[in-house]
Amino acid sequence: MKLKIGIVGCGAIGSSLARVITKDFSKQAELVALYDLNSSKPKILAKRIRKKNLVVFELGALILRSDLVIEAASSRCSWGIAKEVLSSGRDVMVMSVGGLIAKYSELTKLAKRHNCRVYIPSGAIAGIDALKAAKIGGVKKVTLTTLKNPLSFKGVKYIEERGIDLFKIKKDRVLFSGSAAEAVKLFPQNINVAAVLSLSGIGQDKTRVKIIASPKVNKNIHEIKVESQAGNIFTRTENILHPDNPKTSYLAVLSAIATLKQILEPIRIGT
Ligand SMILES: NC(=O)c1ccc[n+]([C@@H]2O[C@H](COP(=O)([O-])OP(=O)(O)OC[C@H]3O[C@@H](n4cnc5c(N)ncnc54)[C@H](O)[C@@H]3O)[C@@H](O)[C@H]2O)c1
Repeated sequence: MKLKIGIVGCGAIGSSLARVITKDFSKQAELVALYDLNSSKPKILAKRIRKKNLVVFELGALILRSDLVIEAASSRCSWGIAKEVLSSGRDVMVMSVGGLIAKYSELTKLAKRHNCRVYIPSGAIAGIDALKAAKIGGVKKVTLTTLKNPLSFKGVKYIEERGIDLFKIKKDRVLFSGSAAEAVKLFPQNINVAAVLSLSGIGQDKTRVKIIASPKVNKNIHEIKVESQAGNIFTRTENILHPDNPKTSYLAVLSAIATLKQILEPIRIGT
């Protein structure tokens, strides 16, 4: 039997996943529904992938058709979507992980109560596999350092309030240093990376985050340092931006596809 998949949010990630499901995973999975707050988006996407009867106009209708719901919408609604999906006895893959950062125990209880699974892809960072393993033996410290071009921070309220002129930054400048909990509030663009790291490691209050505006870089760079009983881990990911949405790293989309592959295939590689 094919896994029936519904996608909520038909932007850069949702559209890429819809294409892959219909093209590469058609033997094991079937795309059964598309939903977006902007109703023209699923219509355009369905036309592009040449599939009929996929567009639905409310979340409930999408859930009813699906075995697995992929949320690729927004961190403002991801917790609400996950709750509704799990309560209906379906599995959920969540891309807007920032919306779940403070909900881990509620999410676990809900998934257990309804005997369902929650899938959270690693996203645009490397090292989640090793961090998960190291956590079993004990992790002392987790630090995320993000380097982005200063202009990537345009429109961030925290920067505007401090009167920082992004055009005048000529050498690396630390914009923020603090907990992941504070970072996700002040830098919504960094929210998913910090959230995945916190959920898989030592939590949002203990995970440290440093955000640097670096005029030399044109990629989203994430460095992760872990100090653990099993030794030290260091990873650096230099992310190319997604052509349809420069706020999203291309690797994040591929990570969701890899997670889907893991769900569909009998062998799981990695922790
Ligand atoms: N986990 C990760 O590593 C990672 C990486 C990049 C992006 N993301 C997150 O994944 C999500 C999707 O990213 P994207 O690049 O595709 O964004 P996008 O802006 O290209 O697309 C988002 C789509 O969701 C729709 N939408 C918003 N709120 C909705 C709601 N309540 N119900 C239904 N549809 C809604 C929008 O209309 C839009 O079409 C974002 O929240 C983003 O922050 C996660």
